[in-house]
Amino acid sequence: MKGVILAGGTGTRMLPATKVVNKHLLNVWDRPMIYYPIQTLVKAGIKEILIVTGGNSPGDFLKLLGNGKEFGLKEIHYTYQEGSGGIAEALGLAEDFADDGPVAVILGDNIFENNIRSAVEDFKKQIMGAKFFLKKVTDPERFGVAEIKGKNIIKIIEKPKNPKSNYAVTGLYMYDHQVFDVVKTLKPSKRDELEITDVNNFYIKQQTATFETVKGFWSDAGTFESLLRSSNLVAKKLVS
Ligand code: G1P
Repeated sequence: MKGVILAGGTGTRMLPATKVVNKHLLNVWDRPMIYYPIQTLVKAGIKEILIVTGGNSPGDFLKLLGNGKEFGLKEIHYTYQEGSGGIAEALGLAEDFADDGPVAVILGDNIFENNIRSAVEDFKKQIMGAKFFLKKVTDPERFGVAEIKGKNIIKIIEKPKNPKSNYAVTGLYMYDHQVFDVVKTLKPSKRDELEITDVNNFYIKQQTATFETVKGFWSDAGTFESLLRSSNLVAKKLVS
């Protein structure tokens, strides 16, 4: 399976830190944020990776990562998202790279402690649909939140004011090749972005979505608070 890392956007929630630097190049403890999703994919056995970048100084990704030798990769593919059209728009740019195959998609600011290899292997057997990864959080209103009934997710709501559960939908998704057709049908949300939650709700309606909960710590690092929390979590793990 191929991997796509979404590292576009303009990082407006983290100004002025992102005025010059792309958010995904800011440090989480001892290394740039983008290292974590690359390591997550590589440790899961994914060898073909596309980074969708955007915003400021995209050339810095190339300077930092080159062909991915440091991660044991032969090459890294890059593409560029203009503006801030949303996560789903960025994913749409991966269509040619995916070449009609399934993709594991990870947001460039998501830090996972545990290896996702077994989830990748499970999804390969799933044949069609999507797979999502949930994590219990104390601040669900910051995320896409899963409404769960029995063993099923019946809907995901993006940043709900009154969350129906404490389960955030993390920024790791696995999709079959339908995903690129789904992206083309999306309309911009209130925040004027193509939402990944709308893509995910398509699969839930189609009843082809599976999910599992994330073991180990998970955090996004897309706000100052979560960046600090991620740094502390990583530091504690690496140092202790
Ligand atoms: C995005 C997604 C959201 C998801 C989160 C995970 O939110 O829209 O559904 O829960 O990533 O990090 P954003 O970072 O755009 O606020």
